[in-house]
Amino acid sequence: METELFEQLDIVLRPKYETIITDLIERQYSIVDDFFAEAEVRQLRDSLLQKYEDDRFKKSAIGNRTNEEVDKAVRGDFILWIDELRQNDAEEIFFGKINDLVSYLNKTCFLGILQKEFHYAVYPTGTFYKRHIDTFQNDDRRKLSLVCYLNEENWPVENGGELALYPNGKPMVEVVPLPGRVVLFESQILEHEVKTVKNGERLSITGWLKTR
Ligand code: OGA
Ligand code: MN
Repeated sequence: METELFEQLDIVLRPKYETIITDLIERQYSIVDDFFAEAEVRQLRDSLLQKYEDDRFKKSAIGNRTNEEVDKAVRGDFILWIDELRQNDAEEIFFGKINDLVSYLNKTCFLGILQKEFHYAVYPTGTFYKRHIDTFQNDDRRKLSLVCYLNEENWPVENGGELALYPNGKPMVEVVPLPGRVVLFESQILEHEVKTVKNGERLSITGWLKTR
């Protein structure tokens, strides 16, 4: 029955994406290893580091407040929003893959994702992001959060910086920010936290898939 409907809608089943959908339905999050290949991660990391060295990143803030001390007690990362209209080669690959996933989700789950926003993030040693959900800015258009890690190969567990997920009524899960790994979760439901980075700089791209 499902197969017939899919044929009528001209959808080819994609096992990798189906796993993501099942995970999201069953436990509010999904972890995909090797979503980006090693060479793609390297290109994206180079792009991030170039822009970071060019001093284009800004200290992250929370909500509309402008109290730096309050902000720093909540999150310590530096971010740079990515302009999809002025993407470089690395970002083109990034958005190519993201858009492919989005169109699959829209076709198969009728999610109605019409917008997205992504930023690079750098967490220097000693920084963290306290437990939160991603819709605190009163942006209820955020449906799915997506984090993609750009760290060097073999980011050791001793470096810290794990993503802790707190699914409703289930035990906490700690995710090591390994390169190429992508984590997706429901923005409005899932509480999560970035544990303190104990060594090195934690590199990532974080973003949101949004309805209108
Ligand atoms: C965020 C966030 C998680 C991570 O930027 O809102 O929760 O693992 N990031 O970087
Ligand atoms: Mn978050």
